[in-house]
Amino acid sequence: MNNVILIGFMGSGKSSIGRKLSYRLQRTFIDTDKQIEREQDVSIREIFAQSGEETFRKMETAYLEELLDNCRNQIISTGGGLPLRKKNRKLIQALGCVVYLRVTADTIYERLKNDTTRPLLQGDVPKEKINTLLKQRVAIYESVADLVIDVDNKGFDEILDEIQEGVKEYEAISN
Ligand code: S3P
Repeated sequence: MNNVILIGFMGSGKSSIGRKLSYRLQRTFIDTDKQIEREQDVSIREIFAQSGEETFRKMETAYLEELLDNCRNQIISTGGGLPLRKKNRKLIQALGCVVYLRVTADTIYERLKNDTTRPLLQGDVPKEKINTLLKQRVAIYESVADLVIDVDNKGFDEILDEIQEGVKEYEAISN
């Protein structure tokens, strides 16, 4: 399927890059986090607080299954933990070209040190939490990615150019 799925750690720019990419490639943009919030009519923070992370992960899987039925030619930005489930990795691979936006712990910290919307990064030691979570996740992101783009110290245009080129190659091979 010819969707583009953006994965990567919180703060890697999946949503903002995804939105810009959708303008550039003239494809519809979907954000799994936003869609889950809309469907559930509560924020992700509240879902974590009221029902726990596992319930949220199940919602991510259910939403990906919906996408697999009806989503074509779109740009899909995902939550940073979505690829943790094996089932989700299979689903995103089936959906299209998986693009991993790779970012360093320092950049994530600078971008998210004052964030209050990510339940997994609240508390006194966000830097340590970022390091720990990133270490756990990097290999998973890399294992599922068709394309890896380093995003630190790059402007949007450079990142979009790299993604566009990579997606073009991917789609030429897979079509
Ligand atoms: C999460 C990332 C968040 C959101 C939730 C859990 C994670 O999305 O899905 O807070 O486990 O990394 P962003 O990556 O868009 O911040």
